[in-house]
Amino acid sequence: MLFFLDTAIVEEIKEGMALGLCDGVATNPSLIKKSGRYYLEVLKEIAEICKGPVSAEVIATETSGILKEARFLSKIAPNIIIKVPLNFEGLKAVKILEEEEIETNVTLCFSVNQAILAAKAGASYVSPFVGRLDDRGQDGMELISDMSDIFDTYDFKTKVIVASVRHPIHVYQSAMLGADIATIPFKIFKLLVTHPLTDEGIKNFLADAEGVTIPHE
Ligand code: E4P
Repeated sequence: MLFFLDTAIVEEIKEGMALGLCDGVATNPSLIKKSGRYYLEVLKEIAEICKGPVSAEVIATETSGILKEARFLSKIAPNIIIKVPLNFEGLKAVKILEEEEIETNVTLCFSVNQAILAAKAGASYVSPFVGRLDDRGQDGMELISDMSDIFDTYDFKTKVIVASVRHPIHVYQSAMLGADIATIPFKIFKLLVTHPLTDEGIKNFLADAEGVTIPHE
């Protein structure tokens, strides 16, 4: 299972990458706005820090504009993948971009039918937003479960990026369902390592090891 960082804050990406446990980065226009940096400048910097896939979202809404922006963004760095919205204009662009060997991440997926269309268009990745579904009183993880079954049945090659992750349970559930990737806000990523019993255990072991010295080589 791969972990992407769901942020455009460079300091968080540097910290996450230094741990050696993060495999990519997903940005979107809102995350970049929150970072307070210029769109293209921050994408370039992120793609230098993170050697794995970095999602860069197009702004255009029509196929021809999406294609032009995607081709431009893909030249920023070889690890840039293009985030395209899930509608017919976007899906038409996805088909062409994938034929040009420009990888796409179809974003804002909220239903099984949308996910199937993204897979049929040949997208490299599709991003179902579980948290936003939960916010509306639907079960976001049910979508992941259904997608997982359907993608297996039809042997779709499109990888599933669980997006809009709100808490560590989303990550656990994604793994249980065999999701390829979860894109995780840095704050949530840091929570994955914590457990009060671990902290308590470390404290107790250190107390019991008082006076012990292990020579350094
Ligand atoms: C990832 O691709 C999305 O940009 C992100 O997960 C959106 O999450 P949000 O619902 O917290 O904005």
